Amino acid sequence: MYNIIYVILCAHRARIKVRKMEKHYRINTYGCQMNVHESEKLAGMLEAMSYTACGEGERADVIVFNTCCIRDTAERRALGNIGVAKAEKKRDPNVIIAVVGCMPQQQSVADSIREKFPYVDIVLGTRNISALPSEIRRVLAAREAAKKRYRCFDLNQPEDYLNIDEGTPQTRTSYPNAWINIIYGCNNFCTYCIVPYVRGRELSRGMDSVLDEVKRCVDGGYKEITLLGQNVNSYGNDIADENVNFANLLHKIDAIEGKFRVRFMTSHPKDLTEAVMDEMAASSKICNNLHLPIQSGSDKVLRDMNRCYDSTRYLSLIEALRKRMPDIGITTDIMVGFPTETEQDFEDTMEIVRKVRYSNAFTFIYSPRKGTPAAAMPQIPYAVKQARIAKLIKEQNRITKELSDQYTGGVYEVLAEDVAPKYEGMVCGRTDSGRLVTFDGGKDDIGEFFNVRINASRSASLFGQKE
Ligand code: 5AD
Ligand code: SF4
Repeated sequence: MYNIIYVILCAHRARIKVRKMEKHYRINTYGCQMNVHESEKLAGMLEAMSYTACGEGERADVIVFNTCCIRDTAERRALGNIGVAKAEKKRDPNVIIAVVGCMPQQQSVADSIREKFPYVDIVLGTRNISALPSEIRRVLAAREAAKKRYRCFDLNQPEDYLNIDEGTPQTRTSYPNAWINIIYGCNNFCTYCIVPYVRGRELSRGMDSVLDEVKRCVDGGYKEITLLGQNVNSYGNDIADENVNFANLLHKIDAIEGKFRVRFMTSHPKDLTEAVMDEMAASSKICNNLHLPIQSGSDKVLRDMNRCYDSTRYLSLIEALRKRMPDIGITTDIMVGFPTETEQDFEDTMEIVRKVRYSNAFTFIYSPRKGTPAAAMPQIPYAVKQARIAKLIKEQNRITKELSDQYTGGVYEVLAEDVAPKYEGMVCGRTDSGRLVTFDGGKDDIGEFFNVRINASRSASLFGQKE
């Protein structure tokens, strides 16, 4: 008996010792899918340095905050958590704290992080995240000197590109989905948006290297590929060879052998071409699903936002899409409370939402971003914005529910993507059109396709059973 206890104790101590010798990291990610995917690259780099991931509450040697600045709420959440990390640093001064991504890409924010959080060791902007390993080595080597470096890249230098992607290790965390960047940055300068200032001008990856990555993911068993970019439709515009464009890329990806799905985001309505719609319609792998942000239904507001399309053009795109793909699921982003939005402009937004009948909409209250043209305009009171978004969400929920009900009784192919977080013995996944379905299944089903009969719907969620 004592022998057994002794062996267990030794094993326990050995485990503690190994845990102490192992180096751990934790990444806190804020913001869009692009950031989630960039965190997979940060994880890959840290794992290549022999760090292993640890959970919230466990001791980490490196804590990374991968930040977002698209709205005030995202910034405040990150700043709050960076503040909380002070206690961890106090408990263990050897912890390395890094703040990276969109927030510190703005020099003024990088400076204020330095001032407010002097315990932060590393600050890197969006296009030099691949410098994380060398920065960690620098901090380790120069700890006592406490020399800190703040690196925000000149975003207009095309050489930045060399720093961001090819060859960066990545630890994919969302099997059976694989995220693949095809274009970085944005040239559009919508007047409300900070992205072009923190992610720089558009830079497309080479077509061969994207195709290679897709093939590697498919060979590795991934079943859904999502192509990422601020505006995937301008893929290739910065490359001289005119065969390098988004429609051709889709065509070539569709020709890759294997059973897998392809989605992409985000599409700017001004750049969505007939050729892309044709590829979507003709392809067996590209999902009948499109995220097409409208932002506003008012032509005046769209002009003030510098969106370069009007409501008529937008509706003609919807018509062209539905003509080719009658069952396409269309989602959107809508913003309320842009500085020049009147009550009538907002009603125009409500009207277009009723006309398009989106399967889902991401709705946002306009948040002034320092340095953007719209932030300098006279602002609308917050209470007005809140009242408008509440009205909009109510209307969209009504439409979403109506569309969900239409699925009931039908059989749809669903890729099992994860165990359902709230329902035991169930998994969840999406239809080709992008609708979330919860159905009977277990861990072993993840990564498999099933025909599922839908028997109930609740708002945006569908529930069903394998056939
Ligand atoms: N305030 C609120 N929402 C914004 N978005 C972009 N900038 C802002 C801002 N300043 C929204 C847009 C975009 C989505 C990713 O975020 O709707 O499509
Ligand atoms: Fe921002 Fe407009 Fe670029 Fe989208 S297209 S990232 S909203 S500037």
